[in-house]
Amino acid sequence: MGICLSARIKAENPTHTGVNSEHDSSDGNDNSISSSKSSSISGPPTLRTEGEILQSSNLKSFSFSDIKMATRNFRPDSVLGGGGFGSVFKGWIDENSFTAAKPGTGLIIAAKKLHQESFQGHREWLAEVNYLGQFSHPHLVKLIGYCLEDDHRLLVYEFMPRGSLENHLFRRGSYFQPLSWSLRLKVALGAAKGLAFLHSAEAKVIYRDFKTSNILLDSNYNAKLSDFGLAKDGPAGDKSHVSTRVMGTYGYAAPEYLATGHLTAKSDVYSYGVVLLEMLSGRRAIDKNRPSGEHKLVEWSKPYLANKRKVFRIMDNRLEGQYTMDVAQKVANLALRCLSLEPKLRPKMVDIVKELEQLQESNNIDNNRSKTRNASRQRRRSAGDALGKFGKAAYPRPSATPPE
Ligand SMILES: Nc1ncnc2c1ncn2[C@@H]1O[C@H](COP(=O)(O)OP(=O)(O)OP(=O)(O)O)[C@@H](O)[C@H]1O
Ligand SMILES: [Mg+2]
Repeated sequence: MGICLSARIKAENPTHTGVNSEHDSSDGNDNSISSSKSSSISGPPTLRTEGEILQSSNLKSFSFSDIKMATRNFRPDSVLGGGGFGSVFKGWIDENSFTAAKPGTGLIIAAKKLHQESFQGHREWLAEVNYLGQFSHPHLVKLIGYCLEDDHRLLVYEFMPRGSLENHLFRRGSYFQPLSWSLRLKVALGAAKGLAFLHSAEAKVIYRDFKTSNILLDSNYNAKLSDFGLAKDGPAGDKSHVSTRVMGTYGYAAPEYLATGHLTAKSDVYSYGVVLLEMLSGRRAIDKNRPSGEHKLVEWSKPYLANKRKVFRIMDNRLEGQYTMDVAQKVANLALRCLSLEPKLRPKMVDIVKELEQLQESNNIDNNRSKTRNASRQRRRSAGDALGKFGKAAYPRPSATPPE
């Protein structure tokens, strides 16, 4: 998860007093979920006390010993990953009784165990239960349940067999083959659909932590967003933004949000642009191991993105031969618009979904064309071979062994 590469921002920015702070109380003031903020008409009823959240959710309440058994005592070899707030373990439960099952049987789960005694951890845990407990969408990871016992706080999710997009883009090793161009487009579209749903009138939520480690992949590379710990209700009524303490991850957070603490759906769109850029380039948002001038992906790539003829310079070498320049330029241009310094110039997530759907279609047409070309080339070659075998006009081929 690379704390040193893309550390989470947990610092309070004292400069923003918050235009809407009386309405949208800042994260700094106790629990934002159970604050006095009135819920928006179309958004979910998130202003609930902890008791209300836990009671009303359709989630299973697990005992600590249930999860301990399911993960075989949190065995170190079942760790799926680790983040700022804890580790994630693989486990097995019975689909009906939700009790621990023998490894390899029943339902596979991913259990996130939060570090104990962290107030921020508890707040994020509750936010996750609150949001994921209410939403059900093909591009959001499914939360099966939670555990709140003494100072243990855990979250139990559906297991996502292909892990995070971060691992697929940046981990080297035989298990993680470079993600193909077509799969990158598929993942970009799936993740965009997840964000578009969150921004829709139905949900009206700002995700606030869009990054490759929070995009998980199922066995068919369907992308699902996980980690709702930093999610916030979007601005209510005619308010333009929510005023918050600055939180998120360096390299992904929108510049105006970092500077003012003013959060809008367009802050997520900026982070989406950063992830799109990581998918195009195969480079991390922040990478101190690169030569100076290339540490910050957005800064380094912007001049290339803005020039159609230079786009190829930012493309991941491992994608060579898989895309047409036309489609790559369009995706690069989309990323550039998402990264506009002026939030109003960034596209909306619904429009990004439409654009990516069209690009995916063009990509499929290009793929089919090149397949047909290859097939007819192959046919011609085999016809040529056949002529070589039986026809009279065939030239003798150079042979490794001299003719007798
Ligand atoms: N449901 C799941 N199925 C499979 N793997 C998962 C699941 N949830 C999380 N993981 C793995 O565990 C890793 C750690 O997740 P976690 O959300 O705790 O931290 P992170 O996103 O890497 O960092 P951060 O603390 O900044 O959010 C993920 O990157 C992913 O590889
Ligand atoms: Mg995460």
